[in-house]
Amino acid sequence: MIAIRPLHPAFAGEVSGIDCRRPLEPAEVAAIEAGMDRYAVLVFRDQPLTDAQQIAFTRHFGELENYGTAGHIRRREEQRLGPGIADFSNLDQDGNIMSPEDRVWFFKLGDRLWHSDSSFRPVPAKYSLLSGRVIPSWGADTEFADMRAAYDALDARTKAESADLVCEHSLIYSREAIGFTDLSPGEIAAFKPVCQPLVRTHPVTGRKSLFLAAHAGAIVGWTIPEARMFLRDLTEHATQREFVYSHKWRVGDLVMWDNRQTMHRARRFDRNEIRDMRRTTLAGDAPLMSQAA
Ligand SMILES: [Fe+2]
Repeated sequence: MIAIRPLHPAFAGEVSGIDCRRPLEPAEVAAIEAGMDRYAVLVFRDQPLTDAQQIAFTRHFGELENYGTAGHIRRREEQRLGPGIADFSNLDQDGNIMSPEDRVWFFKLGDRLWHSDSSFRPVPAKYSLLSGRVIPSWGADTEFADMRAAYDALDARTKAESADLVCEHSLIYSREAIGFTDLSPGEIAAFKPVCQPLVRTHPVTGRKSLFLAAHAGAIVGWTIPEARMFLRDLTEHATQREFVYSHKWRVGDLVMWDNRQTMHRARRFDRNEIRDMRRTTLAGDAPLMSQAA
């Protein structure tokens, strides 16, 4: 029998009464989906998954996001894991800790900025599921911010001002923010900005949320400095401690979040220790807006 215990006053819950390694009954899928709609982040403890089990569990909730290697700076043959599962470790393809000079490592460091997964794609991600396989002895928390609560707490003027704004999202902007600008012409072309509404509405609950991410680097019709300052102010507002749940990882944790209602960021750890985290990602339903602009 699935039960969910709240982990934070506004959102995030811990699920008990489930083994994610076996096929789910329709009622269990429905209970988890209802939990996601309400809590936006769900934690499943003690789930020692293989990659195949993680993929099978994920597919109960929709289609896997599949962009091949688009949006990555590693080619398929340079990747450590098979298709369907993304590598969020600090390991190279041979299983050794990456060099601090490795540009893949630089790229990964950008995940420590607040973001929503795949907001830089025309169809941004629905859920992401992160499995903790090897956890460093210090740090490495993942923090989540409830973007519904953040939207609700905006003052009326800022809400009205945000209502119809369109942001441009790209990996170029989030990597530039940490000083990583060493991208090839091919990468720059592949990371062409996409347009996303600043305010989005959840398809089931109808709740509005701020659709922010470090990938957002421009607002259509605004100057860049004005847009960056507004986005920075909104992000600061949205990530106040009262809107944040910080997850302390244990080996075997599976954490599932709704990218449509939350932002998240990775936290520091000792890069000489192994962090092996693996992510499956569910595709969103449709583009949020026409990309014609
Ligand atoms: Fe992420």
